[in-house]
Amino acid sequence: MRRPLDPLRSIKIKLGAVIVAAVAVTLVVFTIGVRFDIPTIVLGLIAGSLSLTMIQFLARGMTSPLREMASAAAAMAEGDYSRRVTETSRDEVGELARAFNLMAAELSETDRIRRDLVANVSHDLRTPLSSLRATLENVIDGVTQPDQKSLAAMLAQVDRLGALVTQLLELSRLESGSIPFEPVELELDSVILASVRELGPDAERVDVAMPRSNLRVNGDPERMHRVLANLLHNALRHSPAQEHVSVKASSQGNSVVIEVADRGPGLDPGEETKVFERFYRGDSARSGDEGGAGLGLAIARWIVDLHGGSIRAERNEPSGCRMVVTLPMT
Ligand SMILES: Nc1ncnc2c1ncn2[C@@H]1O[C@H](COP(=O)(O)OP(=O)(O)OP(=O)(O)O)[C@@H](O)[C@H]1O
Ligand SMILES: [Mg+2]
Repeated sequence: MRRPLDPLRSIKIKLGAVIVAAVAVTLVVFTIGVRFDIPTIVLGLIAGSLSLTMIQFLARGMTSPLREMASAAAAMAEGDYSRRVTETSRDEVGELARAFNLMAAELSETDRIRRDLVANVSHDLRTPLSSLRATLENVIDGVTQPDQKSLAAMLAQVDRLGALVTQLLELSRLESGSIPFEPVELELDSVILASVRELGPDAERVDVAMPRSNLRVNGDPERMHRVLANLLHNALRHSPAQEHVSVKASSQGNSVVIEVADRGPGLDPGEETKVFERFYRGDSARSGDEGGAGLGLAIARWIVDLHGGSIRAERNEPSGCRMVVTLPMT
């Protein structure tokens, strides 16, 4: 609900307006009263009560947002982030109310992410654990033999658990800033070639194109390597078998652009930003057995942000997905 003094931009002006109005009322009462010979004491009482009523009307709501904030803050301390305060006034209290509402929205979003995180982590840890447990039970009960095949299946589940825990640790370390970020001058071609080499037999499926060989960026070698490894793993995983993926590095103005492209099914429309969210997995990744945890791109985005760059996903014509990383050039 709007209040009479809401359009005024400062508390000082509002107080001034209230005082001027009170003085005006007093003057009017005295001018009229003197003409009718009313005793001064009575005039004083009338003027006083009229002024008080008017102040009550004009100043209505000047401090109520403060009271609202105090009670909303108390609710927040108890874990209720849904409360918002009135922010119609344009003065300092209104500004404070707007900042308060913004903070409440941020906190509520952080709280939602934290809840999702716990739910997702528990789910992702439980799935491989239950399947491991089922296989072990079968072996113990003699339903299956502890042969090469069942042991390999168990190892795969253990690997999955291990990878998930490693990624979670990495993400939490990145977010808490507990690992210092110490950028050094990096030669991009050696970082890219090293990441490709590490793919083992899959390295044969990666075509590297670097028109300029002396591209340099300021970065943390381990982390840059992580970004490339995550993008390459995704590209290879989503490509049809034997199909090649391509890595290209080039300079554009003051930036270095790294592109990893594949000829897989690509992303669905609207997925381009979602894939960078923690635990987001496309339908195929969620249903498939070898799908990851949905953390690879979230980690990549974190690292690229840390380097002052940006990452985006786009369509690779005629088909597939292209991840574009832009970093400031040294
Ligand atoms: N090159 C790609 N082609 C098609 N879809 C992709 C590609 N890269 C990522 N995606 C989609 O984005 C989702 C999120 O990717 P992300 O790397 O974050 O997780 P993930 O690969 O499922 O698991 P993780 O990387 O943690 O092992 C994937 O599940 C997939 O649906
Ligand atoms: Mg991935």
